[in-house]
Amino acid sequence: MDIRHDPMLAAAGDLDTPCVTILLDRLEDNIARVQHMIAAAGRANRPHIKTHKIPAIGALQIAAGAIGLTCQKLGEAETFIDAGVTDDMLITFNIVGDAKTGRLMDLAERVKRLAVVADNDIVLRGLSDAARRRGRSLPILIECDAGFGRNGVQWPSTALDLARLADRLPGVVCEGLLVFPNNAPRTLEFFAEAVSLFRAAGMPLPVLSGGGTPSLNSLADYPMMTEHRAGTYVYNDVMMVHSGIATWENCAMHVRTTVVSRPTEDRAIVDAGSKVLTREQYYVQNFGHVVEYPEAAVINLSEEHGIIDLSASAEKPRVGEIVNIIPNHCCVVSNMVDEVYGLRDGRVEIVWPVAARGKVR
Ligand SMILES: Cc1ncc(COP(=O)(O)O)c(C=O)c1O
Repeated sequence: MDIRHDPMLAAAGDLDTPCVTILLDRLEDNIARVQHMIAAAGRANRPHIKTHKIPAIGALQIAAGAIGLTCQKLGEAETFIDAGVTDDMLITFNIVGDAKTGRLMDLAERVKRLAVVADNDIVLRGLSDAARRRGRSLPILIECDAGFGRNGVQWPSTALDLARLADRLPGVVCEGLLVFPNNAPRTLEFFAEAVSLFRAAGMPLPVLSGGGTPSLNSLADYPMMTEHRAGTYVYNDVMMVHSGIATWENCAMHVRTTVVSRPTEDRAIVDAGSKVLTREQYYVQNFGHVVEYPEAAVINLSEEHGIIDLSASAEKPRVGEIVNIIPNHCCVVSNMVDEVYGLRDGRVEIVWPVAARGKVR
């Protein structure tokens, strides 16, 4: 098929640019495929909503078989619980300070289960105080850093110390351990050692929570895990294609842009810059994949201009032409726009407000 006439992308019709479109068939396929992968590995599926920030998509994930959802921030959890999407929520961020622990407890009172992470005693004590004041018991997962270099206790023995502290404190119950991502360098040895340490101490670990989309292909390498949190898989992006877990045909999100200038033979300017595509790169080059001109390279962005190098592309777009760009990192693009347009069969089927956009507190 000539991608330039891909009817699924042409479906955007008269949509003004720049805007973000979601190919609904691909979205649904991604949700079903990954649900199956996680279930086939014997894990519970707890998708991370930070990728889409849209309650209706969370509801699709629950309908497909997810046991609950994961949020990074309290504000996201408030949005999703307000929408009534699930009553089993995990927040994977240290909650610090009375204002936030108070909001956390407000939420805990509204759902069947609200679990939260902790990786240090100050956070754990704050959670304990807040839960005690409300006469509640809060499930805690101890976050472990198995080599990613972000949050997390550094050693299995520290995880055990923190679990023992939780045992002594009122209002908190250590339910298990959490890591991001599964394929961090030390996950296997960290979790194997932690499991045996906790067993020897007679402390149960009912939940071992792993995460990440790139690690979906290697779930079997981490047999002790009980649940998996993937986020990016709903849309996929350049990074996921680069990591081998997705193909271009699995990419549901596109930034729809118009070519507004061709200042030279080899340069096109589109109307989406860093305020839509973002400058995220992590481990990939350039700033997105141009679907209609796969040899072209989005070599730079200013705030409202995308700068495309056409020197490697025999075909070149004209001014006024629409081009669709798969972003490097779809999760941050979600946070840049008020709404996304769901496309199917040649038409806009739905407009979803990105309800948890900007919910960073
Ligand atoms: C704690 C945690 N869990 C799960 C995920 C989901 O990972 P991915 O976006 O690779 O699917 C993330 C992503 O940032 C995360 O930070």
